[in-house]
Amino acid sequence: MDKSCINVGILGWGTVGTGVSKILLNQHALIAKNSGVELCLNKIVKRTLPATRQGVDLPADCLTTNPAEVVDNPDIDIVVELIGGVTEAHSLIKRAIQNGKHVVTANKALLAEHGGELFQLASEHQVSLNFEASTAGGIPIIKTLQESFAGNQIHSLYGIVNGTCNYILTEMHDRPVDFSDVLKAAQDMGYAEADPTLDVEGIDAAQKLILLIALAYRSSISLPQLHVEGITNITAQEIQYARELGYTIKLLAIAKLTDGNCVEARVHPTLVPERSLLANVGGAFNAVCVIGDAVGPTLFYGQGAGEMPTASAVVADIIDAAKSVQQGVSTPISQAWLAGGQAEVEVCSIEDIETRYYIRFVVADRPGVLAKIGTVLGNWQISIASVIQKDPHGMDTVSLVMLTHTAKEKNMKAALSEIYTLEDVKGDAQLIRIEEEVAF
Ligand code: HSE
Repeated sequence: MDKSCINVGILGWGTVGTGVSKILLNQHALIAKNSGVELCLNKIVKRTLPATRQGVDLPADCLTTNPAEVVDNPDIDIVVELIGGVTEAHSLIKRAIQNGKHVVTANKALLAEHGGELFQLASEHQVSLNFEASTAGGIPIIKTLQESFAGNQIHSLYGIVNGTCNYILTEMHDRPVDFSDVLKAAQDMGYAEADPTLDVEGIDAAQKLILLIALAYRSSISLPQLHVEGITNITAQEIQYARELGYTIKLLAIAKLTDGNCVEARVHPTLVPERSLLANVGGAFNAVCVIGDAVGPTLFYGQGAGEMPTASAVVADIIDAAKSVQQGVSTPISQAWLAGGQAEVEVCSIEDIETRYYIRFVVADRPGVLAKIGTVLGNWQISIASVIQKDPHGMDTVSLVMLTHTAKEKNMKAALSEIYTLEDVKGDAQLIRIEEEVAF
């Protein structure tokens, strides 16, 4: 191995691993010029061999099936984990850290579950654990929160961080198609996973939100603490009515510091004003809006997945780790991640949030129904901002679509259970929260 280089080993040679190898090999001189570090790609672990990739000319003996040749190899300085999944990645990263290697990972599921333990271990062994590619792919949002906004109290953060959901919702917004049809088309075109559950149920976005909250609020939280709703119940009707009311539906990952010193942490479909920048983030693109007390509103936009955008973020982390190797220091780790570190803020209960709502009831088309619903809402201090009536169901029932002013979630739930006992109300309402603050 070339000792004048900082030596890199990659675990996993799938889509992102291939992109990383392309950049390391093809942009070797550019990276050296831009950052002053000389990176050499020495080992790639792939489950099965032989393997080749178009446009990648690997050094001799680079490929192996044995992870020990990377994590236990005294000549490797930086280990890049791109195998995904939790169990194997967890044990290999631990081994690499214990062997004194700096680690780069794109594994949000792993960090959302074991971040505290791994960052503690990295701190003990004085190595870096960098994870830019774990959230929003090519958008440098982790570094931004960790470094560029370190002097800001983050007031709120709104992310479109799941490209699959954003692609589906954008298609449904642009033409009258149902969720299941768009999902199938997305799978056929390779945009959505064969098993899209983690994406469409909001779990992928929730794992990313956990990482963003750790950096923004120095709070290590776990998945069960988040309120998570996916997009599977969003119908073509909801998209259409929201449009008529001047809104677009997006799956947002939201973190918001409240006056009560708790942080709202939620992922759900959200009505955003159609004039807002977030409403116009289309297709599989990601965007994260961060509002800080000093910087004010900011917006970061780009590709949240894919070979080269994700590889771009991984390589940036490798370069940071290489600087740590050169200088003999590790990248400082947010205190929130260190095991035993006390969270500075608690997660607010979803019952305590206050927001505006879109509600669609299906009701019998009789005189007095609107008044009965309005009375119950009024009794729970929920003020209606506007109502439209739609007749998509034939003669007997209609849809009543309402926008409310700001109301308490617990009052809304109580009002809805009371409204569901009314004979004229057919089934459960569609309830979608509205966010106006993204409207720049
Ligand atoms: N499955 C994710 C998405 C990409 O659809 O955005 C990887 O984080």
